Amino acid sequence: MNQSIRVFALLVFSAACLAAAQAQEKLAVNMVNEKLDNAVQQIKVLAKRSSETMLPKTYDNGKNFDSETGWWTSGFYPGTLLYLYEHSGDEALLALAKQKLKLLEKEQFNTTTHDLGFMLYCSFGNAMRITGDTAAYKEVLLKGAESLATRYSPVTKAIRSWDFDNFPVIIDNMMNLEFLNSATRLSGDRKFYDISVTHANTTMKNHYRKDYSCYHVVDYNPETGDIIKKKTNQGAFDESAWARGQAWGLYGYVMMYRDTKDKKYLSFAKKIAKYMLAHPNMPDDLIAYWDYDAPDLPADNKYAKYKHYRDASTAAITASALIEMSTMVKGKLSRYYLKTAETMLYNLSSAPYTAELGSNGGFLLKHSVGSIPHNSEVDVPLTYADYYYVEALLRYKNLIK
Ligand code: GLY
Repeated sequence: MNQSIRVFALLVFSAACLAAAQAQEKLAVNMVNEKLDNAVQQIKVLAKRSSETMLPKTYDNGKNFDSETGWWTSGFYPGTLLYLYEHSGDEALLALAKQKLKLLEKEQFNTTTHDLGFMLYCSFGNAMRITGDTAAYKEVLLKGAESLATRYSPVTKAIRSWDFDNFPVIIDNMMNLEFLNSATRLSGDRKFYDISVTHANTTMKNHYRKDYSCYHVVDYNPETGDIIKKKTNQGAFDESAWARGQAWGLYGYVMMYRDTKDKKYLSFAKKIAKYMLAHPNMPDDLIAYWDYDAPDLPADNKYAKYKHYRDASTAAITASALIEMSTMVKGKLSRYYLKTAETMLYNLSSAPYTAELGSNGGFLLKHSVGSIPHNSEVDVPLTYADYYYVEALLRYKNLIK
């Protein structure tokens, strides 16, 4: 082949590759739009099946279960409605979300929970972002952040999770820091941000093991800040890696890097991602088991019969975090995070995880696990699995469009 033929062949090949890549991207955008359009239809089924004065939580055995506003998951349904309004512009979804916000409003005064980020930021935070109406939502958000800040202790350098034990801090609490960061941006008061950064640093130091898996709970002595015990609440055993906890941690440190630009959080998130994605018990479809150690449970273990149960919520949270992470790194690693998230989203969007329209009580995803040790919400749909799944679809769509 002479030189000009070789150059011509190369150009034709590159053009074909580019066209194939563009066609693939178009297909991906179409697929994501189709999934989001279906979600709009499905959430209307959920709306019809749930109480007007409560918030959808789960569905089991033909029955929908709703919660009061004080339950930790109360913000996810309005948040999902708002994400789907953002996608579709369907005003009925916004109106429904606003009705739910009215119910939720009183939680701004709740000082008995660390979950105010989930409850108020996923709901009111999204409402403010999407509608652009800061004046309508600022007060609730700032009062809620004040309430959350009352649970911070300068002795433990952390925000208290539950009001039992001594001073328990659960990894899930990383997810409430986004709310505090936004409160500083809204008010100009550094207090919220300082609490958030201190809590994230304490968690980095005390919750994580050498392999970058984390404990679910660290219980501190509230008088001295010393650690009393590291243990689990929803995992298979104290030393195990409860899957959703790993996902909360990953998402939390990705978000902390976004909000602080402190590289140590990104580098930490990369190590957590490596632990999760390279784990020998990660299934081929990348929808994690409810605990990374569950598949190894011996036959006589009390949870052995659940050893192969999956948790779709973990995959949804992880996919959403990985899509954001793919924008924070470059080259091969960026492509790896995005491809991994794509696989998770693709599998979540298919059977057996995505429900047929009109089924599953109106929830989008099947096969999540609330808490096996409490025999609660086992292999069911969960409002937060749907929330992070829709968030991940939107993040993906916005990235590739
Ligand atoms: N925050 C409780 C859970 O993840 O199940």
